[in-house]
Amino acid sequence: MSIAATAFATEHGQRFVDELKALLRIPSVSTAPEHAGDVRRAAEFVADGLRAAGMENVRLIETTTPTRQGHPLVYAEWLKAGADKPTVLLYGHYDVQPAEPLDEWKSPPFEPEERNGNIYARGAVDDKGQMWMHVKALESLMRAEGSLPVNVRVIVEGEEEVGGEGIAAFVREHGEQLKADAALVSDTEMFAPELPTLCVGLRGMIYTELAVQGAATDLHSGMYGGAAPNPFVALAQIIAKLKTEDGIIQIPGFYDGIEEPTADELAAWRSLPFDEEAYRSHEVGSPALTGEAGYSVLERTWSRPTMDVHGMPGGFTGAGAKTVIPARALAKISFRLVPGMKPEPTFAKYKAFVESIVPKGVTAEVRMIHSGEPIVVSTDNAYVRAATAAMAEVFGKQTVFVRGGGSIPIVGDFVRELGIPTVLMGFGLPDDNLHAPNEKFHLANFHRGIQSIIGFLERVGAGA
Ligand code: BES
Ligand code: MN
Ligand code: MN
Repeated sequence: MSIAATAFATEHGQRFVDELKALLRIPSVSTAPEHAGDVRRAAEFVADGLRAAGMENVRLIETTTPTRQGHPLVYAEWLKAGADKPTVLLYGHYDVQPAEPLDEWKSPPFEPEERNGNIYARGAVDDKGQMWMHVKALESLMRAEGSLPVNVRVIVEGEEEVGGEGIAAFVREHGEQLKADAALVSDTEMFAPELPTLCVGLRGMIYTELAVQGAATDLHSGMYGGAAPNPFVALAQIIAKLKTEDGIIQIPGFYDGIEEPTADELAAWRSLPFDEEAYRSHEVGSPALTGEAGYSVLERTWSRPTMDVHGMPGGFTGAGAKTVIPARALAKISFRLVPGMKPEPTFAKYKAFVESIVPKGVTAEVRMIHSGEPIVVSTDNAYVRAATAAMAEVFGKQTVFVRGGGSIPIVGDFVRELGIPTVLMGFGLPDDNLHAPNEKFHLANFHRGIQSIIGFLERVGAGA
């Protein structure tokens, strides 16, 4: 490894953290229209960081379509390594999930605070901290060597947490501008502390809204209760029919075509250090785990599809009591998809099933909000080998392969539209509280991540 680049990263490590804190102070919540200006500020911040790192042609790319206001992409490149060197596409996202519920944070979500070697803030690990590792690895190489070992393109999006529609359209329409031989994504987790991990599969998803309409207007529940339909009760009845108590989804044909992991992959998962009871008590914190019988927790979260309800807005939710039969009710419902499943047909089966079970007295409408395809990436290529070796060197342990239960919609397009091998090299920890209160990033992993990325780019450049 370039001693100079890794030494530069070590020497400037504290400054890198301080810069990350400045980025974390920008509340770039992509789903919230009132934060659109903050989202753009975060994009500018990332662009400035890429310029300072010595990248070229740095610019924001607007993703606004005639029908919606999108958040900008940040693009940068450095293509002077020579035509004989491969081009690596670095991907990350600068948008974050909403921080609510705010009163459960020990320190405010957009005022980053260091405690016990962790940095706490919304976006610390997902994905500002991990994206910043990419920028700082590039800076370290450029400042220490005056050049990069490979050609590099960088694309950072601001809509990952809302489905990534803008970047997907850009890849479809201008894929040639991201032409590369491989992609590197740091937006996943390590399987356990100190255990270098590459992620080789992600679940896809469909995110939907199910809207139920009963009476024409809200009604007094004493005057009309007993005769008028209640849309929340109807919604609960529909939801209860989607999945059995044993976690089996009841939509006809839902499981058709699912590709099972290979025997080798399942055997590898069984040898991972996993303590189900610790997972239940420390990570999940519920009295019991749920899900399909006959499948391990890792299978249930990595290679089996599932359904979840995220919220049911509507009706009366204020303090105290109000006796009303709401006219309408809504549920936000998503399905995680696994290889062999496709978003559109899955949505069609779900919609048809819901329409067949709508209780008397109400109407139901099912809408798709966003979707992404499941992926498994090939591990039999030089890029995965370079990543495996780079992480193993930094952590001093053999790298393990896992899948992730989450989704990164654009990764499917890298694999399918751009047709390039994709390396999912993530540095989050299982207890980093992604999407939850008290999100954190273990600072040692921030620094080891930078070193690993430097090592990866150098190995790729050396043709190793
Ligand atoms: N970084 C996560 C995805 C992830 C987390 C993958 C952990 C593997 C392990 C990403 O930012 C994310 O949260 N994606 C959303 C997808 C989306 C379309 C809203 C998700 O998975 O819910
Ligand atoms: Mn992410
Ligand atoms: Mn996320």
